[in-house]
Amino acid sequence: MGDQASSLRQLLQQQQPSQKQRMGDSQTPTCSIAVLSGKGGVGKTNVSVNLGIALTELNYSVLLVDMDIGMGNIDAMVGTYSTMSMADLLRGSGDVSTLIQPSLYGIDIIAGGSALAEELSPDEDVVQLALGELEERFSKYDFVLFDLGAGISKDRVPVLTSVDRIIGVTVPEPPALTDLYSALKWVHHYEPMIPIQLIVNKAVSEKEGLAAAERIQAVAKRFLQKEVELLGVIREDPAVVSSVKAQVPFVCRLPKAMASQAVRGMARKLTLQPSAEEYRPSFIQRLSQRWGGKKRA
Ligand SMILES: Nc1ncnc2c1ncn2[C@@H]1O[C@H](COP(=O)(O)OP(=O)(O)O)[C@@H](O)[C@H]1O
Ligand SMILES: [Mg+2]
Repeated sequence: MGDQASSLRQLLQQQQPSQKQRMGDSQTPTCSIAVLSGKGGVGKTNVSVNLGIALTELNYSVLLVDMDIGMGNIDAMVGTYSTMSMADLLRGSGDVSTLIQPSLYGIDIIAGGSALAEELSPDEDVVQLALGELEERFSKYDFVLFDLGAGISKDRVPVLTSVDRIIGVTVPEPPALTDLYSALKWVHHYEPMIPIQLIVNKAVSEKEGLAAAERIQAVAKRFLQKEVELLGVIREDPAVVSSVKAQVPFVCRLPKAMASQAVRGMARKLTLQPSAEEYRPSFIQRLSQRWGGKKRA
C-alpha cells in the first residue's frame, strides 16, 4: 500500500508545476533554511525530511542537504543509496552529476557521506569549485533545507550565517533547551538579522511543548532582544519510530498521525513567511564570502 501511495504521490507531483516553474525562476528566490539543534537525537533529521516532503505536497520544490557529515542519515531515512556525497564534493572527488539524488517522496537529497574532521576545512579552491557546482543546482529549488549536526562548530558557521532562516529543533527537557539556546546565541552573535524559528519535538502534550517554547522565547527576548517564532509542537508519536524503522517518512506512511499533521501545519506556516532574500544577497554569494572564499566575493 505504501508503494502504491508513493507512486501516486510522485505522479501527482510530476503533474503539478512547482512554484518556481509556475512563476519563472527569477521571480521566486530560493529560500535556504538551516535546521539546527543543541543536542543530537532530538529529531532534527526526521523534522527536516518530513517538513521537506510536506512542502512538496504544497507544490514547492525542495532539496534537502545533509550537512551532518559523518553522522548523517538522510539517505537511510528515505531509503535511497547515494554514490556521491557532500563529503566527496568537499574533498574534490566523485561524479558531481550524481550529487543530487531524487527520492521516492518528492524531495531531492544530497547525502552527507563520511569524512574526517580535518577534511571539513578544505582549501579555498576546493570550496569555490564546490560552490560553483552548487549555485545553479540550488537555484532550481523553492526551498533548500540543510540538516546540520548538533551544536555549533567552526565548519558550520558559514552555512548557519548564510541561510535565509534558521529552524531550531529541541525536545522539552531543560538540558536540550539550554543547549539549543547556546547554539542560537552563537548564530545571533554572528548574524543578528537572521530570522529564527523554533520546533519543539517529542512533547508529551501540546501544553508541555508550548511551555518549553516559551522558555526559549523568553530568554532570547531578554538576553538577545530576539523574537523567536514558534513554528509548532510535535508530540511524542509512535508513528515516527515505526516509520524510521520502515525507512519511509512518517508524513507519507501515516499521513493522519499526530506528527504528520503537526509537520504539515509547519510547512503551511513556512510558506506564508515573507522572503528573507529581500534583505540580503543570494545564499551562495553569502556562503562564498564566509567560507574562506575571496575570489568570488
Ligand atoms: N515526535 C517523535 N516521537 C517519537 N519519536 C521520535 C519523534 N521524533 C524523533 N523521534 C525518534 O528520535 C530518534 C532520533 O531522531 P533523529 O531525527 O534521527 O534525530 P537527530 O537528527 O536530531 O539526531 C529517531 O530514532 C526517532 O525514532
Ligand atoms: Mg540527524
